Amino acid sequence: MPYNFDLKFKEYYNKFETDLTSYIENLKEGITPSLKEAISYSMLNGGKRLRPILGLATADLLGLDYDNIKYYLIALELIQSYSLVHDDLPAMDDDDYRRGKLSTHKKFGEAMGILAGDAMLNLAVETCLKKSSFTINDANAMRIIFDFSGYKGMVYGQVLDLESEKSATKSEELLKEIYLNKTVKMFKAPLLAMSALANNKYYEELNNYGEALGLAFQIQDDVLDVEGSLETIGKTPNKDKDADKLTSVKIYGLEGAKELSKKLFEQAIESVKNIDNNEFLLEFAKKISKRKF
Ligand code: IPE
Ligand code: IPE
Ligand code: MG
Ligand code: MG
Ligand code: MG
Repeated sequence: MPYNFDLKFKEYYNKFETDLTSYIENLKEGITPSLKEAISYSMLNGGKRLRPILGLATADLLGLDYDNIKYYLIALELIQSYSLVHDDLPAMDDDDYRRGKLSTHKKFGEAMGILAGDAMLNLAVETCLKKSSFTINDANAMRIIFDFSGYKGMVYGQVLDLESEKSATKSEELLKEIYLNKTVKMFKAPLLAMSALANNKYYEELNNYGEALGLAFQIQDDVLDVEGSLETIGKTPNKDKDADKLTSVKIYGLEGAKELSKKLFEQAIESVKNIDNNEFLLEFAKKISKRKF
């Protein structure tokens, strides 16, 4: 039978969404109803779930058990969603919309936006520690998740991104440094955390795949900021130009950015061409290359 990517994608999406929803709904001990409402709003709101889906597919490819990985994927989506809640705050990108709805601070106020984000990051750590047994591979998976999302990863990229708004330096080198951290590291995290759990199998190939895919994805995000609408992308368009951000569109022009992202998606495919059970990763890159939101 030919490989049915769409069916598999749906299966991963539904599996993750079901578990994430029940996990968040079951938060009880010590949480105020107001904080729980803000966290639920920020989490259960139509995110694409691309990072956990990549994690699920990589776990399958490596022969890992779902029970062994589920909490890491929830933790990654908690980090992804908190980073968006904070990214939208007035002090950062100041966006009133996210995932097609009012952003968290618009709905619940700025203080609650900050606190919900804080709590989601904390909860991510707690979630990783939910596993009943812990090995050195688990410690390495956690190290990847938190190194890649923290002060030398995603947060580092976000700092450079904000500083680039006011800076006269708008170079290709700086752009790459920003994208390799604010976006690529969050794509590498599920791939490489799964590799760590499988004794680093295919580490190099998955690392290269994550790099090309993450860069291509962020460049697309820049293109969609120009070409998309609130209805299609679920966030305010033309934000980057208004804030004078350093983006791929600024450096390469709109057509140049599109060309580059296409090339990077091909590069991603090339990186995992020779590994076993690669069907999902190959098709994933093809599918995402055509995304409109
Ligand atoms: C948004 O990521 C942040 C970027 C890296 C551009 P996504 O476009 O994956 O956002 P969600 O999680 O689906 O909302
Ligand atoms: C944000 O990049 C990446 C994060 C780490 C949150 P952007 O600021 O371009 O993401 P959007 O366009 O708001 O989703
Ligand atoms: Mg931003
Ligand atoms: Mg933003
Ligand atoms: Mg953007």
